Amino acid sequence: MSAPVDLYNSAYSNYGSELYRQVRIETYGQDFGQTSWVTTEESAAIPVRLHLKPDSSVLEVGCGSGGYALHLASTVGCNVTGLDVNSPGVDNANQLAATAGLAARARFELCDASKSLHFDERSFDAVVSNDVLCHIPGRPNVLREMFRVLKPGGRMLFSDALVVGGMISHEEIATRSSIGYYVYSPPGENERLLQLAGFQSIHATDTTENASRIAQKWQQAREVRKNELIALEGTSNFEGLQAFLSCVHRLTGERRLLRYLYLADRSH
Ligand SMILES: C[S@@+](CC[C@H](N)C(=O)[O-])C[C@H]1O[C@@H](n2cnc3c(N)ncnc32)[C@H](O)[C@@H]1O
Repeated sequence: MSAPVDLYNSAYSNYGSELYRQVRIETYGQDFGQTSWVTTEESAAIPVRLHLKPDSSVLEVGCGSGGYALHLASTVGCNVTGLDVNSPGVDNANQLAATAGLAARARFELCDASKSLHFDERSFDAVVSNDVLCHIPGRPNVLREMFRVLKPGGRMLFSDALVVGGMISHEEIATRSSIGYYVYSPPGENERLLQLAGFQSIHATDTTENASRIAQKWQQAREVRKNELIALEGTSNFEGLQAFLSCVHRLTGERRLLRYLYLADRSH
């Protein structure tokens, strides 16, 4: 069985290091502090998909170090609230917001999104959550909360890289789950739960191929910096993360695990 591996604490605690920045640039192209399977093209399409405008208010669930939320605040000009359960991530995000002079438009809070959100209903024009919901227990409730805080006419977008597409062994499940709590979904379940939560115009896009490519690039960008990364992470965590990334690449490459992007509306 795979030993537990740390991804988010090391990624967010070492966020500012040039080494980690180079790995992100080589993996994604543009650096938003990503720790996910999103391509830069997918990130660029989000404001259009969510119909964002300068006066929009956006909630990002699982914002990590806040790079993408800050990108939205600076390029679209909208107000962004980011939530994450990881405290080094939220600390980075608030520091980055202050340094960029965006603290009035972008704020970040430590929050466990498996609990009820503390926002009033109909608070946000858009909700976005990239590769996060798979980590949170109780998806029906999480989606209901996202629906509740959205204004009528608002849009929600989330991705799930853990839709089961084929046979997966217990060793593969253990390696794929080595970085923390995970929920695997049967195909169609996210659409069903979105509908149950009240969402309409549900649209799913298959991004599995992109996820496979990102996992491979991330693994390779780390492998060429093996010695420096081992000095920061230790040998066993470095190897654990490399095994995790190889596993994501293999399972998505063979379409045994699928990644989908879900877009839905709150119409009333
Ligand atoms: C795959 S990373 C994605 C981060 C960012 N959205 C990105 O695209 O790089 C998943 C994030 O979900 C956060 N997370 C996990 N469980 C959470 C929870 N219960 N509530 C809020 N955030 C959570 C993690 O701390 C991590 O930052």
